[in-house]
Amino acid sequence: MARYKVWIDCDPGVDDAAALMLAAKMPEIEVVGISATAGNVELKYTYRNARNLAAYVGLDVPVYKGANAPLIRKPVYAKEVHGKTGLGGEALPMSAAPDMTKPAWDALYEAAVKSQGEIVLIFIGPLTNLALALRKYPDLPQYVSRLILMGGSSSFGNTTSAAEFNIVFDPEAAAVVFESDLTISMLGLDVTMQASLKQDDLEMLARIGGETGRFLKDSLQVSLNWLKTLGLDAVAMHDPCTLLYLVYPAMFKSEMAGVKVETRGELTYGKTVTDLYSDTRFPVQNVDVVLEIDHAEFMKVFAEILGKYKESSHGA
Ligand code: BDR
Ligand code: CA
Repeated sequence: MARYKVWIDCDPGVDDAAALMLAAKMPEIEVVGISATAGNVELKYTYRNARNLAAYVGLDVPVYKGANAPLIRKPVYAKEVHGKTGLGGEALPMSAAPDMTKPAWDALYEAAVKSQGEIVLIFIGPLTNLALALRKYPDLPQYVSRLILMGGSSSFGNTTSAAEFNIVFDPEAAAVVFESDLTISMLGLDVTMQASLKQDDLEMLARIGGETGRFLKDSLQVSLNWLKTLGLDAVAMHDPCTLLYLVYPAMFKSEMAGVKVETRGELTYGKTVTDLYSDTRFPVQNVDVVLEIDHAEFMKVFAEILGKYKESSHGA
């Protein structure tokens, strides 16, 4: 079977953790590298979490450290959603892998060149590392098959009324990425909020996923408890949607649209403005905007993949 060569850039993050857990058990995917960025929590935690998660799920690939702050603005983290250190207060065994000193953007570029255009970029945190890579290596897009990112929305926001977290954390970086020649699929809140888990679903994960499933349940519980205080009864699996879209596109519906990132608006700073619902369209429809997921199918596949952890206590 031809496997997708995938680079994952993340900011774990409880749903980033779920994505890494899926990646390790999807035979269609070969993870060639992982990078961490500041986002949900500080870089020192996202980097540590990414390293520990990779080791925990048996992904034997280098994990690189990326940007510790957005390009321009001050970082505003999401600790209320992900806990102080990013995994809902849960701790993992420390990875024994060597510390990587090469910056994420250099490592990503080298991996892309080596892949000769095959690499798929999965970005599930703020886009700072990718913007830095594009600035330093303007020829990067020619070595990349496609970018699938979690971020933005064609309608509502979650961090402000207009903006989604990954984009508003670093809107200037997102603008660089959306203005690049990369082939982009955007999984924003429109679709990822549909990929949600209720309390019963978390219990199910703990039952079917062995020790890993219990870890995931416990870390997601912090998010769900916080969301309950807002009157919501489910936690969205934002980040896992990217990998599922790559391997199971038939589970989703998408539309090409023009997308630009607002970097000046007072109320709309960090919004991904799309021309999906307007009479006047942007000159170019540059992004595959994913809008719907079949929730029943999502639950089935998500449970099937995490169920693979039942046999082994963790990754291997
Ligand atoms: C996105 O922001 C983060 O909190 C999640 O990990 C996800 O990537 C959702 O808005
Ligand atoms: Ca994330």
